[in-house]
Amino acid sequence: MSESFPALRPNAFRDAWCGQVLGDRVDSEVRVAGWVHRRRDHGGLVFIDLRDRTGIVQLVFHPDSSGDAFELAHKLRAEDVLSAAGRVVRRSEETVNAELPTGEFELAVASAELLSDADTPPFQIEGFSGDVGEDARLRHRYLDLRREQMRDALVLRHRVSAAMRDFLDGDGFLDIETPVLTRSTPEGARDFLVPSRLQQGSFYALPQSPQLFKQLLMVAGFERYYQIARCFRDEDLRADRQPDFTQLDIEMSFVDVDDVIAINERLLVHVFDRVGGPALDLPMRRLPYDEAIARYGTDRPDTRFGLELVDLADDLAQTEFKVFRSMIDSGGAVRGINVGAREMPRSALDGLISRAQELGAKGLVWAFREGEGWRSPTAKFLSADELKGLNERLGAEEGDLLIVVADRPKIANAVLGQLRLELAAEFGLIPEGSDDLLWIVDWPLLEANDEGGWDPLHHPFTAPAADFDPDDPGATRALAYDVVWNGQEMGGGSIRISDSAVQRDVFAALGIDEAEAESRFGFLLEALRYGAPPHGGIAYGLDRIVQRLAGAESIRDVIAFPKTASGTDALTGAPAPIDDGQLREVGLKLRAQPPPSRP
Ligand code: AMO
Ligand code: AMP
Repeated sequence: MSESFPALRPNAFRDAWCGQVLGDRVDSEVRVAGWVHRRRDHGGLVFIDLRDRTGIVQLVFHPDSSGDAFELAHKLRAEDVLSAAGRVVRRSEETVNAELPTGEFELAVASAELLSDADTPPFQIEGFSGDVGEDARLRHRYLDLRREQMRDALVLRHRVSAAMRDFLDGDGFLDIETPVLTRSTPEGARDFLVPSRLQQGSFYALPQSPQLFKQLLMVAGFERYYQIARCFRDEDLRADRQPDFTQLDIEMSFVDVDDVIAINERLLVHVFDRVGGPALDLPMRRLPYDEAIARYGTDRPDTRFGLELVDLADDLAQTEFKVFRSMIDSGGAVRGINVGAREMPRSALDGLISRAQELGAKGLVWAFREGEGWRSPTAKFLSADELKGLNERLGAEEGDLLIVVADRPKIANAVLGQLRLELAAEFGLIPEGSDDLLWIVDWPLLEANDEGGWDPLHHPFTAPAADFDPDDPGATRALAYDVVWNGQEMGGGSIRISDSAVQRDVFAALGIDEAEAESRFGFLLEALRYGAPPHGGIAYGLDRIVQRLAGAESIRDVIAFPKTASGTDALTGAPAPIDDGQLREVGLKLRAQPPPSRP
């Protein structure tokens, strides 16, 4: 990652960056400052690798020419903070370090000052080994962040957001901040709540996104808004989820779906171009939601490999195999995947069954095509015609491994969609270094939930694609779009409802009655009555974009101070109990005693 650094104003600490002690400085005097990365004693000489943000330079302490500094050099330990001055010399050929940009040079130290003495760090910065637990790294994050990999990740993050700002500024978007102490903005998670001292018994909610404020900014006439916004969601954490995370949030007025998609494609190209992301062919591919579900079992498909889902119900219409029969009769689905010619021992095949059950299926049928039929414990339950039909439908060749799940469509899709990913990883089916970005479009507006009601697939402010029929909520499509990158949801958005009557109908379909709509969202319904332009937008998970660009395992690796999987901040100990006085001040009384806080 090449960064440029300004010339330094010389002071008592330094006049040059460590990483810039290069050929143009040979024979001149420089002073550098930084952290002791590594110390080596060699035949009466002491070598120190000194590190600052720009890189590393080698300091040489000589008993004859380094004066008092030679004494000091013997006492230096890793991570001490040092300022050192001397002459830049070219290293002899045998001592050149090709790994370092400054590796042809070194500083012959004439004087040095210890600026800060470091305790022995709990883990090594230089020579960091991967087996340091994440807890230790997070607890001492300021040390972890000294590592090159972490520094590079945060530099990359900065460059990504700078490129976003640069593009959006050039396209007339205004960066406008919105409140963090606010009311609930439903995005499908629980709210984090903050008690009010001045209005006891009342709470602010931290925003799950700036959704409603950005819509109000459109009503206010700003037309093009963006914000790199902190969002807060109390949900179960995963590798790509944090309770507080960052969105690039965008909204525009007088636009349709194609307008929003077009500007976002240019934005992605601009950002990737600046930071070395994948090359995109525009326009990006658009995959309708129904097709994504049918072929990949998920609304965020990884389309870099095959193993597509196949619907088998037609070939099993007459089946007497009770597992399939009962599913089909109760409106369920039977779907399968041709995994191709794979070797798998019996134990691994049984492992697939338990994995499917872990993922929520009742079971899984595995089979290998053998002649016109199957080699499978299930083969005996299916007729020759059925087996032949299934082989054809799945495009099975001799020896191909087939897996089949019968369940409610949602479960069959989710389980096969996940097994598809796991099998692709296991068999190395994802081409190394390949990237796949696409739009998922034509979403349903609402989906039925288990309680007999309806939930939005995006959020309640998403515009229907045609007139919304309150009597048939499931039939309506949404003007919504998500960006998916290698099977991960990077961003999503929609055209919004800009008519308060339609918004009321959608609230009603979601089970939010007039009174509740008025009390929770009255301000929005009212604003929509004062001249709301057609508008729409999108939000990206900035952490996720940077994670993928950095090739990191988790978004925690691209966030300076992330939370652990249990939602705690290992460094500060948050969340922490508060004392009685603070509780009284906000008018709260705990129902249970909190556990003692961590020492
Ligand atoms: P959505 O809820 O899809 O849309 O969020 C947008 C993007 O934010 C990222 N994201 C997260 N990243 C890390 N941790 C989390 N807990 C987390 N939750 C979401 C994802 C996601 O795609 N207001 C709408 C956007 C709009 O309609 O304009 C919204 O928030 O990458
Ligand atoms: P059972 O009759 O439950 O012993 O199941 C017979 C076979 O069908 C076993 O191999 C099960 O793993 C498999 N099976 C059971 N339920 C399902 C299901 N819902 N979908 C696919 N296979 C199933």
